[in-house]
Amino acid sequence: MNINNICCIGAGYVGGPTMAVIAQKCPHIKVTVVDINKSRIDAWNNDDLTQLPVFEPGLDNIIKNTRGENLFFSTEVEKAIDEAEMIFISVNTPTKTYGKGKGMAADLKYIELCARQIAKVSKSSKIVVEKSTLPVRTASTIKSILDNTGNDVRFQILSNPEFLAEGTAVNDLLFPDRVLIGGENTSDGERAIQALVNIYANWVPNDSILTTNVWSSELSKLTANAFLAQRVSSINAISEICEKTGADVNEVAKAIGMDSRIGSKFLKASVGFGGSCFQKDILNLVYIAKSYGLDEVANYWEQVIIMNEHQKQRFSDNIVQTLYNTVSGKKITFLGWAFKKDTNDTRESAAIKVADNLLNEQAQIVVYDPKVSEKSIYEDLDYLKTRSIEENRKLLSTTNDPYLACKDSHGIAILTEWEEFTTYNWKKIYDLMQKPAFIFDGRGILDKKPLEDIGFVYYKIGSGTE
Ligand code: NAD
Ligand code: UGA
Repeated sequence: MNINNICCIGAGYVGGPTMAVIAQKCPHIKVTVVDINKSRIDAWNNDDLTQLPVFEPGLDNIIKNTRGENLFFSTEVEKAIDEAEMIFISVNTPTKTYGKGKGMAADLKYIELCARQIAKVSKSSKIVVEKSTLPVRTASTIKSILDNTGNDVRFQILSNPEFLAEGTAVNDLLFPDRVLIGGENTSDGERAIQALVNIYANWVPNDSILTTNVWSSELSKLTANAFLAQRVSSINAISEICEKTGADVNEVAKAIGMDSRIGSKFLKASVGFGGSCFQKDILNLVYIAKSYGLDEVANYWEQVIIMNEHQKQRFSDNIVQTLYNTVSGKKITFLGWAFKKDTNDTRESAAIKVADNLLNEQAQIVVYDPKVSEKSIYEDLDYLKTRSIEENRKLLSTTNDPYLACKDSHGIAILTEWEEFTTYNWKKIYDLMQKPAFIFDGRGILDKKPLEDIGFVYYKIGSGTE
């Protein structure tokens, strides 16, 4: 079965880049990405490619070449579903904020809405692909909705989780370590799997396309994120021991990473992992384990989150303690707000929690981030409901000039590893600041010696004082 028309529901950080790459690599396929959020679709259609809703290195170029050719962004959800032979569901699956499983389980209401809409609109057989990250066995829910409310149309459900990381999405999509496709072990299921394999085979080598049963595929996605986040929490736990003992976490990470069984990636100590998925996916895994009565399993994975919360808390505690136990009325500069470099995404960024803690201590925070808007920063803070909207604006401001952000500051906190921070004139910054001038490097991106030579008091996460 060859696919000529694809619809993707959800034009977010996954739907947009993923479909852009499919469109680029499969010029014979018409790809329509739909969303209920009109302003997001308008932004994807903006002639000015700097205004795309998702910032990803290299994405603007792909959009430039494919948009209007075989890639389309639209709010006409039903029309796109009707025309498509294959429908990717790429909507958000956040942690539930209400009811049973609140704070842990994945909220599947957007998934269910998609399934119901597909069932309502479809007049011909379709392959429905789960691109969103979902709890294991969600495909059976989708199937039940499609089979019971459809117009006697046959559906095949595939699980095809996405492994891209933000900031490197285009490269990850063009050269994936693997593509995972889970499907039913029936002849119809196998035909559907093959149809999706054929799409990826346009640019992914065959031996990197892995096919499994649906449940393995769904669970593999949660497991991959849990393992990745666990590495970060593990090295962050060691970073605290390093600070007490005079060991250096970067040296420890290098030494253990050279063991080929451990490997060197994902061992960078930080102020804590953020991003839209690690926390929600681990919470989801914990919830699934609990729902099967597997308490030890649940507690084991929950500890990854507990460690991450601790890392953010101790970073802000250290700032307060170092600044003579009070930051009240003191200007503190945040360099970076995004949850990692090369993205404008701030979801669950460690910066949010660190800021909230310092604002509780009445610090005056000024934020500079090269890609994050003031609007997103205030939305992140207001969402916490720790204090009033007015108070957040009174205590925290933003600027587009990093030097201005540092002027008269008592301390600089580095929250995101943006490369440009390493290129600053740190002598000039030192001269602009209150003395003693402190730097709290939550990403370990600066060099201690030259900064100390300038006169800074420099703290790097995971680096002990000798
Ligand atoms: P996102 O919030 O950026 O985008 C989701 C989009 O879906 C939104 O624009 C929303 O308006 C739209 N939407 C919701 N319900 C809809 C409906 N019924 N009809 C049409 N549009 C609808 O989310 P995202 O970061 O792209 O993540 C999507 C999924 O992919 C999640 O399950 C996530 O766990 C998974 N994932 C994300 C990443 C990542 O790096 N962000 C990577 C891999 C997997
Ligand atoms: C992560 C996974 O890497 C992707 O494979 C997955 O598809 C995605 O989640 C998802 O399901 O959403 P992402 O969250 O975009 O991707 O970014 P990562 O590079 O994994 O970084 C996550 C967080 O961990 C960031 O805050 C980053 O700064 C932090 N991190 C990462 C560290 O602190 N140290 C490291 O060594 C690596």
